[in-house]
Amino acid sequence: MLFQSLIERKRDGQALSEADWRMVLEGCLSGVVPDYQLTALLMAVVWRGLEPAELTTLTRLMRDSGASLTWGPGVPPRVDKHSTGGVGDKVSLVLAPLVASCGIAVPMMSGRGLGHTGGTTDKLESIPGFRTDLSLTEVQAQVQRIGVAMFGQSEAMAPADRKLYSLRDVTGSVASIPLIAASIMSKKLAEGLSGLVLDVKTGSGAFMREPASAQALAQAMVELGSASGCPTIAFVTAMDRPLGRAIGNALEVEEALLTLAGEGPQDLVSLSRTLGAEMLVLAQRAPDHAAALIEVDRALTSGRALEKFRELVAAQGGNPAIVADPGALPQAAEVELFEAPADGVVTAVEPRVLGEAVVAMGGGRRQLGDQIDPSVGFVVSARPGARVARGEPIASVFARDAAGIALGLSALGQAVRLGPAETTLPLLIS
Ligand code: URA
Repeated sequence: MLFQSLIERKRDGQALSEADWRMVLEGCLSGVVPDYQLTALLMAVVWRGLEPAELTTLTRLMRDSGASLTWGPGVPPRVDKHSTGGVGDKVSLVLAPLVASCGIAVPMMSGRGLGHTGGTTDKLESIPGFRTDLSLTEVQAQVQRIGVAMFGQSEAMAPADRKLYSLRDVTGSVASIPLIAASIMSKKLAEGLSGLVLDVKTGSGAFMREPASAQALAQAMVELGSASGCPTIAFVTAMDRPLGRAIGNALEVEEALLTLAGEGPQDLVSLSRTLGAEMLVLAQRAPDHAAALIEVDRALTSGRALEKFRELVAAQGGNPAIVADPGALPQAAEVELFEAPADGVVTAVEPRVLGEAVVAMGGGRRQLGDQIDPSVGFVVSARPGARVARGEPIASVFARDAAGIALGLSALGQAVRLGPAETTLPLLIS
């Protein structure tokens, strides 16, 4: 069959069959189908969508385009969490060791920073020596030994997604709920999980700005998980302000350490406890959310979760001394305070502005392959709703030089908005 007839059928709103999608993925991986035909088909999906059965089939074929993790009978239930990405979102750094310290296996595959959002593998690599490029054999062995591994997407897993995502990224076809759902779930389902918790972000700092789109994405992914025998639950959570106080790779690792030591900021602690408890329920370690929360809190207050993080860092070649001494993380050459420009109430801390500033200061990539500076970023202590006085220090900029400081101060000037009165924030977890 001519490939162009597939494009025409999708353009006209028809569903493609399993055989059609198989041909698409085989042609994509072998290079037989040129990129211009693949991108035309992807753009047709952006406009026309996928039927539910078609989405399930495509996701399964994308998962099966590469290797999957397999687990022997002695391995405890495997549960993972995926976030659709935001600013200051270091929940994975807290959750993986926290949940593993409760006796659940956590094979957590994460991504790099994308656009204005940070990526867990970049954050982990700010720990001197930490390796995220584990082979699947290394992941399996480490999860069996210590219950947790945190790694980047290898060439071996869901290669069809890698290829299609790289085309979507440069052809304006990322913003499609079925394509995002298939992309995320094909990778997660290749981890051989017993359960998955999804954190779908919404708000000005999220890819899904509107709550209704976030809900639709969450629903599509939950259905894909269930259809593949992986019980999946999703939360839609706020990304109209940064999560926690720290933004930037090493600064976020430091905040995750504080949280594991029981001293994290309230929003980060609350989201980590909620998602962690649901992971325990999915793994059948606790009968319900309330019982799971008690277990999660025990892991945090006993120091067990923090110790698991130390074990994880050591297992992946990182310097475990950072756990007791975060000063061993990369430190910015220049630090400067940002003061409130007037008396008032903080009405917004705009996450996208700060995420983009971190990239501009060298803490994220403009192009694939760019080196990043793990030390740069922000700590914003003033939360929306806080009353501040003119001249009061409400944030810090961490940069490599004076130009970075100037850029950071200017971004804070735009991002932190003050008003005369209290404002109503969307709930963190809706
Ligand atoms: N993250 C993914 O892994 N895939 C997408 O399509 C979008 C975000």
